[in-house]
Amino acid sequence: MTEHGADGGRYPELAGKVAVVTGAAKGIGRGIASRLNAEGMTVVAADIDGATLATTVAALRSAGAEALAFTGDLREAAVIDRLFRETVERFTTVDVLVNNAADLRRRRLLDEHADLLDLQLATNIRSPYLCSQRAAAIMRRHGGGSIINISSVGALRAHHRGFPYDVTKGAINAMTLAMAIDLGEYGIRVNAIGPGVTFKGGRGVDEAERRVTEERIPLRRSGTVDDMAAMVAFLASSESSYVTGQVIYVDGGITAQLSPPGPGALEKDSRQIESLERNETP
Ligand SMILES: NC(=O)c1ccc[n+]([C@@H]2O[C@H](COP(=O)([O-])OP(=O)(O)OC[C@H]3O[C@@H](n4cnc5c(N)ncnc54)[C@H](O)[C@@H]3O)[C@@H](O)[C@H]2O)c1
Repeated sequence: MTEHGADGGRYPELAGKVAVVTGAAKGIGRGIASRLNAEGMTVVAADIDGATLATTVAALRSAGAEALAFTGDLREAAVIDRLFRETVERFTTVDVLVNNAADLRRRRLLDEHADLLDLQLATNIRSPYLCSQRAAAIMRRHGGGSIINISSVGALRAHHRGFPYDVTKGAINAMTLAMAIDLGEYGIRVNAIGPGVTFKGGRGVDEAERRVTEERIPLRRSGTVDDMAAMVAFLASSESSYVTGQVIYVDGGITAQLSPPGPGALEKDSRQIESLERNETP
């Protein structure tokens, strides 16, 4: 097995608990579902894309995990109600909710995108809002839980061409803080992770472009789905039992820098620094 496989997860207290992960058919959500399963959790994997979800959940099950596929459009309140009703009927409770499903498209402000704005307000804000409300009602009855929102570095530092996506992720951060202080008395913690550039595998990646991007990241690499899932597992676990209302950026340091270096800038800077140290004119 892997380092956190079925023969013992990193957080044994998670074994047997129930997690709902939205947008779990592919990408970061699939990685989160897989990691929580590897911790021994029962995972209800929800997604609008039923065909991809079926393949993902079949793979989880063949690895010995307890996983249930729930297909539906989580923009619909009635679908969200059904998700939590079916989860409780089948598994009694919800211990962890991961609000991961989102629409990631980005535009310039002056490009017409009213339809995309409405779609993202529904998918990226209203849906996690309602999912959290439903999950929190169940968690309160069962003595607590952990809600983990998937935000973005775009909530803290704007992407170029970042509308309306960054605006929705800023709202997720505000929601994380507001829900944390409202739900704390019930033992429900609410946190978010802000992924940076995340390499999800697959084809169609321009390697030259990827190298240029990675030059701008202090840790000099893209994040992986496993990097994101590891932070989610920590926030789900009791190791983070005194952490609530936090947004943790899992971004290789990209949001820490004032401005990213351009191509070749790192060598130039160090040459300049060396000559300054020797008291020479560069
Ligand atoms: N990929 C990155 O580099 C990156 C960076 C920062 C933040 N994020 C965040 O991470 C999360 C996952 O991103 P990803 O790159 O894996 O995205 P993705 O597009 O690969 O996966 C998103 C999943 O959500 C599902 N989904 C979308 N709308 C839905 C709806 N209405 N109902 C149910 N399911 C729906 C999709 O079918 C898909 O399976 C998002 O919240 C995103 O904003 C990603």
